[in-house]
Amino acid sequence: MITTNSDKLFKESEKHIPGGVNSPVRAGKAVGVNPLIIKRADKGHIFDEDGNELIDFIGSYGPMILGHNNPIVKKEIVKALEDSLSFGAATKKELEMAVLIKELLPSIEMLRMVNSGTEATMSAIRLARGYTKRDKIVKFVGNYHGHGDSLLVQAGSGIATQGISSSSGVPDSIIENTLVLNYNDFEQLEELFKTSGKDIAAVIVELVSGNMGVVPGNFDFMKRLREITKEYGVVLIVDEVMTGFRVSIGGAQKLYKIEGDLICLGKIIGGGMPIGAFGGKKEIMERLSPLGDVYQAGTLSGNPIAMTAGITTLKYLKDNPKVYLYLEELGDRLENGINLLIDKYKIDATVNRVGSMMTLFFTRTKVTNFSEAKTSDEKAFARFYKEMLNLGLFFPPSQYEAFFLSNEHTIKDIDKTISCVEKVFEKMNRLE
Ligand SMILES: Cc1ncc(COP(=O)(O)O)c(C=O)c1O
Repeated sequence: MITTNSDKLFKESEKHIPGGVNSPVRAGKAVGVNPLIIKRADKGHIFDEDGNELIDFIGSYGPMILGHNNPIVKKEIVKALEDSLSFGAATKKELEMAVLIKELLPSIEMLRMVNSGTEATMSAIRLARGYTKRDKIVKFVGNYHGHGDSLLVQAGSGIATQGISSSSGVPDSIIENTLVLNYNDFEQLEELFKTSGKDIAAVIVELVSGNMGVVPGNFDFMKRLREITKEYGVVLIVDEVMTGFRVSIGGAQKLYKIEGDLICLGKIIGGGMPIGAFGGKKEIMERLSPLGDVYQAGTLSGNPIAMTAGITTLKYLKDNPKVYLYLEELGDRLENGINLLIDKYKIDATVNRVGSMMTLFFTRTKVTNFSEAKTSDEKAFARFYKEMLNLGLFFPPSQYEAFFLSNEHTIKDIDKTISCVEKVFEKMNRLE
């Protein structure tokens, strides 16, 4: 693959932008590859500055469930552009968005829009603390909730590839109030609540974690988490920034039959525009300023273009439930195809998938938590990544990310992907 233009642009970007990128995982450090510089994308395919065409399994890390360049979303955005880009005042579209999200996610009685998933989780934590008048929060190892100070402790996503348990620049005094549990660990959960349950403001969780690679939460564990948080008056924050409208129209909460007290959203609800939202029980949400004493605000929150892209995307998903059936069909085909090849070429690997979110871990260990995810052979992943990239497949450049399918991927895309996996596995098996 020719990457002359990408390499030149990346070198130039490195002079002006830390690491040449505006979000660390994009730099490709974990796989030792310079990033492709992207020019455009259409449907399930993406094109770089050298004219290379690749099947896109990043999908902007989740938002592009309808694929790129969806004509309906585009048409509505163009219409909205006529009315200006931002007002700093309330709009009918914000009301429409709130009503639509409430209809689709019954656990939300009131919600507020923000501009990223990070803002949503940070605000939900502050609100839970204000509501309960307690300081401690609990998170799970390998779950990622954006880069707010108190949540950057043993997090997944970009942080997982750097092997650091928290970020420099976060004062110990903040981390002291963040308690960390192993994902799906019943014993630790019971023990912690026995000793500290009455001091905990909130537990934040990804019911299906997508940030240590895809690792589904254990159903019984999540059920117990819901029970025990209720028993101790602890706010359960379900982080659906990635899973919301991705794993089902009702998010992970629908799959797990669990309702959070507060829910965080992002990604798909903006249809590709910067967005976030948090919402939940009215009694809690009413503690937000200007009604209550918990302050939270945003110059561009509820931006009309983001609202338009999001409303149009959500309406499409609501009116076309077959999208989820199709995504399941694609996911199932890809998972089965890869599993057959793992057996055929005796590769030490395992696939985790929930709907259109999937990770190929280079380990034989069943992955149900972060330490099991970390048994993966990162070098093998890097080799796989590079070979696949050269064959025209655009995967996230980290062992600990999900890859995402869209409504615009075709059976042909999936079959091409499987045949490329075969070529790469065959080579890896020979080199073993
Ligand atoms: C579960 C989860 N929460 C929060 C975030 C942070 O969202 P953002 O990157 O929009 O700040 C992410 C981002 O990947 C996420 O996956």
